[in-house]
Amino acid sequence: MVSYKELGLVNTRAMFAAAVKGGYAIPAFNFNTMEQMQAIVQAAVETKSPVIMQVSKGARNYANATILRYMAQGAVEYAKELGCAHPEIVLHLDHGDSFELCKDCIDMGFSSVMIDGSALPYEENIALTKKVVEYAHKYDVTVEAELGVLAGVEDEVASEVSHYTKPEEVIDFATRTGCDSLAISIGTSHGAYKFKPEQCTRDPKTGRLVPPPLAFDVLHEIEKKLPGFPIVLHGSSSVPQEEVDTINAYGGKLPDAVGIPEEQLREASKSAVCKINIDSDSRLAMTAAVRKYLAENPSHFDPRQYLKPARDNMKKMYIHKIVDVLGSDNKLLQK
Ligand code: G3H
Ligand code: 13P
Ligand code: ZN
Repeated sequence: MVSYKELGLVNTRAMFAAAVKGGYAIPAFNFNTMEQMQAIVQAAVETKSPVIMQVSKGARNYANATILRYMAQGAVEYAKELGCAHPEIVLHLDHGDSFELCKDCIDMGFSSVMIDGSALPYEENIALTKKVVEYAHKYDVTVEAELGVLAGVEDEVASEVSHYTKPEEVIDFATRTGCDSLAISIGTSHGAYKFKPEQCTRDPKTGRLVPPPLAFDVLHEIEKKLPGFPIVLHGSSSVPQEEVDTINAYGGKLPDAVGIPEEQLREASKSAVCKINIDSDSRLAMTAAVRKYLAENPSHFDPRQYLKPARDNMKKMYIHKIVDVLGSDNKLLQK
């Protein structure tokens, strides 16, 4: 059993309270590779932002759970090396699907876990979430739960249709589970194809898809029911068109990829939404840079040559999200 406190990590409690009060959101970036970890830390340090580094079950399968845990510990030391005296880095389990997985992460030094019982019947979601909360709180680990179902398909997260969170359930759910934050469904979804073309309109000038707006009315109703309670948005990549265009220009095929417009995420950040999850945009930034580099340098084969521009491109994207979308720059609690 290792406490995250020994690793220099922090839980989400204080940073969420400050974010809700201050009208900004903490970025939650997924990582699977060293380059993603380095880019996240560089971006957080340069912008003086708190950051959540999150690991999915798929990431654990890809990279090995122990390696990722040591990478997070390394991230804290790396942030200090880059000049941040008191890094505020959370190591978070993304979409934990069982008590055992959450316990394993808590026992190995995670400071925050998500138990995603959103696909279960309501009472089963409550029972599972409560069990995780009881274990996590013994070690001062914070717990994110989910109510409502997001559409979208990724390795470990799949649902054909979305069901908005029912505002009338949130007080009962939060009270009975004791969770520290709540992921809700208001129209975001996972992956780079968040909406089917038939759900969108088309911009007549560019021919690009314009997605339907998020259900801000549902968000505001939830905020009224749970004043000041930390709300989380999953599936919040914006799928930058320039990255999609670069990928397609250099041999990729991502027709009609579409994400959540950044203005809507900016608006959400000002509300009780205090954690915004971004994974697909990092995948797109990395893939666009690698495709471009390899197409322009066909004789190069040293991975460092193409992973460096990939890392730089991800860092640029992370900084943009922090500064221009979520507003978490200069928000470290301890200067
Ligand atoms: O919400 C899901 C995250 O993007 C993680 O995706 O399960 O493919 O690692 P993954
Ligand atoms: P995106 O696929 O929109 O990046 O969402 C990531 C996410 O919600 C991770 O939990
Ligand atoms: Zn998610």
